[in-house]
Amino acid sequence: MDSFIKWIGGKKRLRKEILSRFPEQYERYIEVFGGAGWVLFGIEPPCHFEVFNDLNGDLINLYRCVKYHSQELQRELNFSIQSRELFFDAVNQMNTRGYTDIQRAARYFLIIKESFGANLSSFGTRPTNFLSAVDYLTDMAERLKSTVIENQDFEKILKTYDRKESLFYLDPPYVETEKYYAAEFTKADHIRLKNALQKVKGKFILSYNDCKFIRELYAEYRIEGISRKNQLNGQKSEFQELIIRNY
Ligand SMILES: C[S@@+](CC[C@H](N)C(=O)[O-])C[C@H]1O[C@@H](n2cnc3c(N)ncnc32)[C@H](O)[C@@H]1O
Repeated sequence: MDSFIKWIGGKKRLRKEILSRFPEQYERYIEVFGGAGWVLFGIEPPCHFEVFNDLNGDLINLYRCVKYHSQELQRELNFSIQSRELFFDAVNQMNTRGYTDIQRAARYFLIIKESFGANLSSFGTRPTNFLSAVDYLTDMAERLKSTVIENQDFEKILKTYDRKESLFYLDPPYVETEKYYAAEFTKADHIRLKNALQKVKGKFILSYNDCKFIRELYAEYRIEGISRKNQLNGQKSEFQELIIRNY
């Protein structure tokens, strides 16, 4: 099924390639850099032990409200319309204290849906069918029913869920696109990720942009190059990505 949001670096177009490389057998599925979760939502049927993680607290609050309070969230959103004024009010209100988790989640959802290219800061003028997106939250709540939702740094997730029968999918901020995400990700973090993955007992599959730094960093693993049409911050282009595996 489709995700309920757009997200910068979302793997809507690459997910078939990633899913086709999944191992035949695994007992735990862990999506470490969740975002819009395109790969997780593409797994049919879902793995009975499934974890979704992201370090972005506003994003994870939205997922938790979708999972546990979808009707209240829908009620909060049902009166929204696509309007520049409401959009910028919501952006400013994200920095205001005193809202409930559901009210914050509603504002974050509206900002994601109505920003240009999901950049969370500028108003997208393209018409959106906002109310059908709100209805879709019912399907999402059902899909997330038995998913564990985490809000941790990747290293903690790798340590917590690693078993021989685990499969980790990792989609970190790509090299030189780190600035598009609220959670800072530095060159040292890319190296920290590689060092953490080296210790993993389970299987991992990792997507990255194709660059010398990553090819060298993961030289000991199985690396495949894939060409894909991409849209980053509203700009269309075709570029090379890497799928890296330890199996
Ligand atoms: C490329 S996006 C993931 C896109 C996702 N695969 C999709 O289909 O939408 C990278 C994500 O990593 C998250 N992130 C950044 N630093 C992180 C960290 N240290 N640990 C876990 N997640 C992190 C960001 O918040 C962002 O949502």
